Amino acid sequence: GSGKFFVGGNWKCNGTKESITKLVSDLNGAKLESDVDVVVSPPFVYLDMVSSSLTDRIEISAQNSWIGKGGAFTGEISVEQLKDIGCKWVIHGHSERRHIIGEDDQFIGKKAAYALNEGLGVIACIGELLEEREAGKTFDVCFRQLKAFADVVPSWDNVVIAYEPVWAIGTGKVATPQQAQEVHAAVRDWLKKNVSEEVASKTRIIYGGSVNGSNCSELAKQQDIDGFLVGGASLKGAEFATIVNSVT
Ligand code: G3H
Repeated sequence: GSGKFFVGGNWKCNGTKESITKLVSDLNGAKLESDVDVVVSPPFVYLDMVSSSLTDRIEISAQNSWIGKGGAFTGEISVEQLKDIGCKWVIHGHSERRHIIGEDDQFIGKKAAYALNEGLGVIACIGELLEEREAGKTFDVCFRQLKAFADVVPSWDNVVIAYEPVWAIGTGKVATPQQAQEVHAAVRDWLKKNVSEEVASKTRIIYGGSVNGSNCSELAKQQDIDGFLVGGASLKGAEFATIVNSVT
């Protein structure tokens, strides 16, 4: 793998004040391996609450951010506001935003570039649909999405790439360690050829899609898997800790 293991918990649009208070308290009490970067991504409305109650051991990520400086953009949240409440990361390119909300590569690239320029880390998500995999287009799709990030990012220092095959997200149908490793290695090779050898060797490439406490260790053993982006299983403190601690 490359660099420190990185595990993100993407809470998506889940939780209430009550359930999130419990989750934060479970995370605060969990034993987490020291050699892992740990990040959680609560819904916007709970970010401030989580940021002020969660242990400093875990960093906070937003699930989205606006393409530029704040102002007259009803319903949007600016990078400056996220930084103001202690957010260190933001997720962009998530499949739910691409395929349910309809965000395209260019829009995603703009948001990622702005966030990076303003000093947030970006969890840059890529991944193919089932029909794209079945049509043998997995690499084409992932490389196209990757290129849209590569074309605009000012630097790769604060970028973590998340490979999330859409068919594996929230389905319980996790990619096999071999399927994930194959794409991760291809992504690293793409970075080597299209960005630089240094970026290819330093950039963390994490896997997302039905990761849980039972399948994480086998995935974590793969050479090019540098961590996870966890959805459902990150809503349970103990299981999330198990995943964090699966670092090999
Ligand atoms: O961002 C996280 C991924 O979409 C994975 O979600 O673990 O519920 O499949 P999941």
